[in-house]
This record gives sequence, C-alpha cells and structure tokens, in this order.
Amino acid sequence: MDKTLLEHSLSLVDLPDDGLTVRFYDILFTRYPEVEPMFSRETRQQAAMLRTAIISVVDHLDDTAWLSANLGALGRRHAGMGVTEPMYAAVAECMIAAMAEIGGDRWTVEMTEGWSEALTAVASLMLAGYPAEDQTASGAA
Ligand code: HEM
Repeated sequence: MDKTLLEHSLSLVDLPDDGLTVRFYDILFTRYPEVEPMFSRETRQQAAMLRTAIISVVDHLDDTAWLSANLGALGRRHAGMGVTEPMYAAVAECMIAAMAEIGGDRWTVEMTEGWSEALTAVASLMLAGYPAEDQTASGAA
C-alpha cells in the first residue's frame, strides 16, 4: 500500500470538525438507509470515532502486527453489532464517494484506487477477527 498517497489524499479531504466522516455518514444513510437504525450514537460522535480510526490505520500502515490486532478486535466488536461482509463494500464505496466529492478536481483516479485497496484490506482484517461461525457473514452458520 502506498502510504504517501494515502496520507496526502487524506490531508486533502480531512475537513475541520470531522467534515469528511460526517459527509460519509450522510452518503451512507442516503444510499443504504437500511444500515442507519444500527447506529445508536449521534452521527457527529460516530464521525469523530471513525476519523480517529482511519488516521490510526494510516499511521500504522507499516505495522502489520498492530493492524491485525487492532482491526481484528474492531471487527470482533462489529460482528457483535450485526455488521455483515457486504456492508464493508458499501462503507468503502461511500467513504470514497465522500472523499472524491470533497477533493473535487484535486482528487485523482490513483487516490480512488489507493483507498479502494486500503479499505478492502481493512475489511479483510476486520472480518478475520469475526468469530468462526460469522466469517462468511451469510447468516447460514
Ligand atoms: C472501514 C471499516 C470500519 C471502521 C474503521 C469502523 C470503525 C468504527 C469505530 C472506531 C467504531 C466505534 C466503536 C468501536 O470502536 O467499537 C464503530 C462503531 C460502529 N460501526 Fe464501524 N467501522 C467500519 C465499518 C463498519 C461497517 C461496514 C458498518 C456497517 C454498517 C459499521 C457499523 C458500525 C456500528 C453500527 C457501530 C456502533 C455505532 C453505535 O453504537 O452507535 N462499521 N465503527
């Protein structure tokens, strides 16, 4: 993964007051209204936590042990909340849509590709933390 590209592109779109992740939740709840009832915290509070999580991941891109341990634990908590595998693709799509919208003309195809790769890797590490029976998240276990 290209840490420089991810850091640079994040700095382009990381608006004050958690503006990026607030916009992300707007897009997520518009495109996937079925996930909104899963959230109990206020959007602003959730947005602040998600922004912190994204920055921590980018800061630890070279630290595979940190990534596995922390994203595995985060994934285990998400399993308990009923978050299924397809929802990770929806989240990645909406996060990249928010980034591209805020980045405007400065947002490039390479940035979209870099974030797509990074968010796919994050989802894999989170899903790896799911209890075995939830791994497929098919509900058939
Ligand atoms: C890039 C992947 C994701 C990251 C980095 C992430 C990050 C976080 C963080 C940091 C929290 C705060 C609570 C905690 O630390 O356990 C959280 C809570 C939560 N996340 Fe995620 N998440 C991701 C994907 C998803 C997906 C795909 C869904 C499904 C829609 C989801 C739904 C939730 C819900 C429902 C909560 C609890 C909200 C509440 O209690 O109000 N997350 N997430």
